[in-house]
Amino acid sequence: MVSKKIVSLIALLAVIALSSGLQVKAQGGRVGVKKESFGKADGRDVFLYTLTNARGAEARITNYGGILVSLKMPDRKGKFDDIVLGYDNLDGYLKNNGPYMGALIGRYGNRIAKGRFTLNGVEYKLATNNGENHLHGGIKGFDKVVWDTKPLRTKAGEALELTYLSRDGEEGYPGNLTARVTYTLTNNNELKIDYSATTDKDTIVNLTHHSYFNLAGQGSGDILNHQLMIAATRFTPIDAGSIPTGELRSVNGTPFDFTRPTAIGAHINDADEQLKNGSGYDHNFVLNGQMGVLRLAAKAYEATTGREMEVWTTEPGLQFYSGNFLDGTITGKEGKVYNKRYGFCLETQHFPDSPNKPQFPSTVLRKGSRYHTTTIYRFTTQKR
Ligand code: BGC
Repeated sequence: MVSKKIVSLIALLAVIALSSGLQVKAQGGRVGVKKESFGKADGRDVFLYTLTNARGAEARITNYGGILVSLKMPDRKGKFDDIVLGYDNLDGYLKNNGPYMGALIGRYGNRIAKGRFTLNGVEYKLATNNGENHLHGGIKGFDKVVWDTKPLRTKAGEALELTYLSRDGEEGYPGNLTARVTYTLTNNNELKIDYSATTDKDTIVNLTHHSYFNLAGQGSGDILNHQLMIAATRFTPIDAGSIPTGELRSVNGTPFDFTRPTAIGAHINDADEQLKNGSGYDHNFVLNGQMGVLRLAAKAYEATTGREMEVWTTEPGLQFYSGNFLDGTITGKEGKVYNKRYGFCLETQHFPDSPNKPQFPSTVLRKGSRYHTTTIYRFTTQKR
């Protein structure tokens, strides 16, 4: 009796070991976190961490800017491709990451009008780096600093914890802010990102992640044929300087209706004032459901490879940016040239310019409280 049980247990273990071995072989990596040198920035050592899961999927992350350098996921035939834009080496990121490829964004994702806001009766002036506005944390945002790291083995999968102390006054923001971001590559082919922060003085914070996805493989063409669904019946229209007007507008009957899967390119060239203001899609969507609750925000599907990405988040908003400003001047990984709309971003966030829009969900973080948000990018393949 007992020996029968042991035999079947051994058989089961052998099957598991064999199948996971085969899966790992598919990508060539080994389950775990590998650390290697990626160069130096600000006089500090920069590393490249390779996270590999039990299915052979792989995420490479550097502690410079918390950048996701590559993400390899299988297509419907089991072939792995890198599905995010970026550079082969640190130098590319140091010299030429105007588009914020793969980066962690902070203290504030997207724009703050004229780089000004008032908190507790004090007006703060932030660095301006996008015309008269403040964009993605300023001149030297979280995408350009060296983070401290700690690899973690969690129940969900291999993880990398990144920590950065942003000093009081950095880029004009009040308070010493300790930001912590954990990337986990789960064994379900999910890239999970947990963001948290604390401060010693009331401040504002809005962290996000800025990967450009192309589910057909990075550098393989434009993303206009991807079918996109965004779980939002409203979006925040912008003015010609890409600042929200403050209105929450229904997507109904507009090119912004992605409530059912629709090709990104279906309406992108429509004569529409909002598409003109964004040079395409570059807008915040007001996600359905309750903020603070992890829920499906978006789905993107690429038919030739069958890859599908779901985005789940606790955030109230999602910036859909269709890579309008990529213009062929960047040569990225493996010599691939990134032309207009070769990648798209789905940035989970609070709404742009919230500090100046009292009607938007607040981005204030009070001394003594804790900021915490979660976003999951989940990859599967479909037969259709
Ligand atoms: C913004 C775009 C900007 C891009 C960075 C997006 O999040 O909404 O306006 O150009 O990031 O290059």
